[in-house]
Amino acid sequence: GKNIVVTGAASGIGKRTAELAQAMGANVFSVDRNTPDNPVGHFIAADLGSADGVAALIAQLPNGIDALANVAGLSGTPGAVPTIAVNFLGLRALSLGLAPKMNQYGSVINVASIAGFGWRGNAEKTKAAVAVEGFPDPAKFCADHGVTDEISYPTSKEFLLMWTYQAAQNPVFKDRNIRVNAVSPGPVETPILKQFRDVLGDERVDSDIDRVGRAGTANDIAPSILFLASDGARWVNGTNIACDGGLEASILAEVM
Ligand code: NAI
Repeated sequence: GKNIVVTGAASGIGKRTAELAQAMGANVFSVDRNTPDNPVGHFIAADLGSADGVAALIAQLPNGIDALANVAGLSGTPGAVPTIAVNFLGLRALSLGLAPKMNQYGSVINVASIAGFGWRGNAEKTKAAVAVEGFPDPAKFCADHGVTDEISYPTSKEFLLMWTYQAAQNPVFKDRNIRVNAVSPGPVETPILKQFRDVLGDERVDSDIDRVGRAGTANDIAPSILFLASDGARWVNGTNIACDGGLEASILAEVM
């Protein structure tokens, strides 16, 4: 079986991804800041919102990783600094730092969001932010790039999508034939959805759900993540799979 690292594995989409990967015969390293009662595979506790936490995780992982599923994320309710730190800076640092421990033809899968859909409208700002390398101080990074608490969640996902497209060209990955792709869920019934309801209001969340008939479940998302991790996706690189029941298409249809 393949060696797969799944972050955010204590809850929701990450948990389901780790379970399904194990059921399909993978050797799973599940990672979260919270230690679950029944962790899947080899559990490693890590705070992915700090440079030290990311470095400690990389040090504990063995060589020969085939896939990294970056699922851990924050809703934006904790504020801009932790949200950008986990959803973008930490994810990027983990991906770049783990690449030397990954096998040829490996795969990095970034869970973004329909909320990052607007990056094309913010392309210059997004490119300028993503051009800052390493793990900058998150507070300074947010201040420098106009990331306020209110817009931190969609902005973190815009940065993540832009970085995903660029990362496929990055020699760190390209020279090892490691593919980098994203999966963008629409509203999914997990604990984070309650936080989106608190921030955006029930009306907005329910209208998105109504557009596509129902909310997704973690089971609707995990298979797309594992497809991108599989050899069947060897020709899929630098792209984003909208995994949202058609929500993005219905928004696109309105603006076309
Ligand atoms: P969830 O809240 O159930 O799971 C997120 C997990 O990430 C939690 O186990 C949490 O402990 C972990 N995490 C957060 N900060 C961390 C840190 N600093 N270090 C280590 N682990 C950390 O939410 P869900 O739905 O499973 O979210 C997974 C991903 O899917 C997130 O990136 C989220 O933005 C994305 N997403 C979710 C949607 C939804 O409606 N549920 C919609 C679109 C995207």
